[in-house]
Amino acid sequence: MKWCLLVITWCYCCSVFADQLSIEEEQFIDKYNKDHDKPIIKKDEAWLTVVSTVGFDVHVYIHNHECWKCDRIYLQTIDGNDVATIILNTTYGTDIEFRRNIIGQDEEISLCNISRKFKENGDYWMFYNQSDFGIRSCDLNLVNDPMTAEMPILYVAAGILVLWIIVKAVAYCYSVRVISESYDVKHDEEGKTNTNNVQMAPVPVQVETTEVPMTTHHKRSRLHSLDTFRGFSLLLMIFVNYGGGGYWFFDHPPWNGLTVADLVFPWFVFIMGTSMNYSFKSMLKRGKSRGWIFCKVFKRTCLLFTFGIILNTNWGPVDLNHLRIPGVLQRLSLSYFVVALLETIFAKNKVIGQKKSWHWIRDIVSLLPQWIINLIMLGTYLALTFALPVPGCPRGYIGPGGLHEYRKYENCTGGAAGYIDRVVLGENHIYGNPTPKAIYQTKVPYDPEGILGTLTSIFLCFLGLQGGRIFLYYDDHYGRLIRLLVWSLITGAVGIALCNASKNDGIIPLNKNLWSVSFILITACFGYFLLAILYILVDVLKWWRGTPFIFAGMNPLVIYLCHDIFYRFFPINWQIEAIHWKLLIKAVWDVIIWLILAFVLYCKKIFIAL
Ligand SMILES: *[C@@H]1O[C@H](CO)[C@@H](O)[C@H](O)[C@H]1NC(C)=O
Ligand SMILES: *[C@@H]1O[C@H](CO)[C@@H](O)[C@H](O)[C@H]1NC(C)=O
Ligand SMILES: *[C@@H]1O[C@H](CO)[C@@H](O)[C@H](O)[C@H]1NC(C)=O
Ligand SMILES: *[C@@H]1O[C@H](CO)[C@@H](O)[C@H](O)[C@H]1NC(C)=O
Repeated sequence: MKWCLLVITWCYCCSVFADQLSIEEEQFIDKYNKDHDKPIIKKDEAWLTVVSTVGFDVHVYIHNHECWKCDRIYLQTIDGNDVATIILNTTYGTDIEFRRNIIGQDEEISLCNISRKFKENGDYWMFYNQSDFGIRSCDLNLVNDPMTAEMPILYVAAGILVLWIIVKAVAYCYSVRVISESYDVKHDEEGKTNTNNVQMAPVPVQVETTEVPMTTHHKRSRLHSLDTFRGFSLLLMIFVNYGGGGYWFFDHPPWNGLTVADLVFPWFVFIMGTSMNYSFKSMLKRGKSRGWIFCKVFKRTCLLFTFGIILNTNWGPVDLNHLRIPGVLQRLSLSYFVVALLETIFAKNKVIGQKKSWHWIRDIVSLLPQWIINLIMLGTYLALTFALPVPGCPRGYIGPGGLHEYRKYENCTGGAAGYIDRVVLGENHIYGNPTPKAIYQTKVPYDPEGILGTLTSIFLCFLGLQGGRIFLYYDDHYGRLIRLLVWSLITGAVGIALCNASKNDGIIPLNKNLWSVSFILITACFGYFLLAILYILVDVLKWWRGTPFIFAGMNPLVIYLCHDIFYRFFPINWQIEAIHWKLLIKAVWDVIIWLILAFVLYCKKIFIAL
């Protein structure tokens, strides 16, 4: 409600303070619109119609605000006495500059600059006349009143809320009936809550849920909040992968920056580390040898990696010469492998240090060898990123290449990380459509799940392991919460310091393509924090059972594989007009479909894990 009011007030203010058109100009617009058809625009685009009466050619240059250190690029020329309609991108802010040639010279002089974030589907007009005072300032007029692009999110969110209330009401009526029936029959109620005997099924990898019923664990040690967190990430990932309504914040940024879409995959890596604590604890308790554990770890890694390769071939007949090798599951499997391998070597089968003077950091001390190895890996990542000589590129370059740095380092996309992949895996075996391609016009392929970034993702997985260790080593809610929050603060503070709390200006900007150090620290910070919040709500206060997220969180592998495999099938996918509200509803619809599958599996107590 408050938001609604805010948005309405804002729209009202905008319309009041918009530049005013003269009567003649309005008549001109009406007449022109009658005689001419405007070019068709799609979502995130606007028209800018320039009415030029200056008598000389005007060259239009544009620059996307998202393009960091880029020159303005030439768009088109408007004749001296002409009306021309330009289509603008409205996702990010845009700079427009008008230039003209000085007669007899090659050089251009700048006439005027416009810098703003255009409204989606806005109809902008600009009357560009020459007066006695030189060039009239380049005022824009918005002549229509388009809906704010983000508005559908509000409606869809309200829709989801209503749907949820209906589902809750139905579930309530149903459960009342079940209880009264079972009361009559004196039969134990077999509700959907009774799943405590099922072991945690963490992340795609993990734990032989179905094979071994959990007997060694105390019921208390089951972390519903972790399942909830995993399910939340998974559903968010599905939403984002299915387009997220076409909004920029539900999509990855072109290069630096952090959006909602960037959070989900790191969270998976983080949660995988957290839940590893439990699987190792149970394996060690059951007296499995380290060799046996290693085989298990190795088998899971191979399976997951293979699934990843298979999913990469989901797009039609496979040309093995152009098979992409890295990918999401590959990255997960490798991170899992290294962290699990170190656990296999160093894990102790009992809690240590309870009586020592350092008992209050015994969770950290127990991971000391792993800390050392992981910090060495992090150092290797930094050394390679900032010191590896890359032919034709400055040392330590971490930009997107293409237009960046005024086209000086066109082919340097991703610096050392990109170079290593292109040399080791080959240009044909890595991702060809990286996120900077559209805005930076990069030409070389670059893989966001490449080799070098695996090192930082291992570190993130390890931070997750450290977070989960808190639950094994400390029993009191307070101590657990404080530790989670302290980790959240530390990782957050270091991350913010590294990126200087800015998008492009820090020493190490947040970057999902590179999995930069600041990026994993900030995502870990959110991870610890969210885990702490969910822990309070779900496990401590028990105010919420984690529904509906927990359904998906119990079967991550199946849901993940299905959502990827059935990407192009009805009723998951069909042709719709690419406008925000339709895309948004479709993405939510897809999430609901997979949620229903997850719910059915959950009710039938089918939990599949590797
Ligand atoms: C808008 O963006 C799309 C894709 O990023 C691009 O193809 C198109 O040329 C852009 N249009 C303008 C006017 O910049
Ligand atoms: C427009 O901006 C460019 C780049 O900042 C600048 O070089 C140019 O002088 C500006 N033009 C005008 C008319 O202010
Ligand atoms: C600018 O040009 C338009 C179209 O030719 C004309 O209708 C309008 O009166 C002119 N405005 C000024 C301020 O000269
Ligand atoms: C980048 O690569 C393209 C094609 O491989 C080549 O034409 C271009 O000259 C290269 N640019 C630089 C700056 O080396």
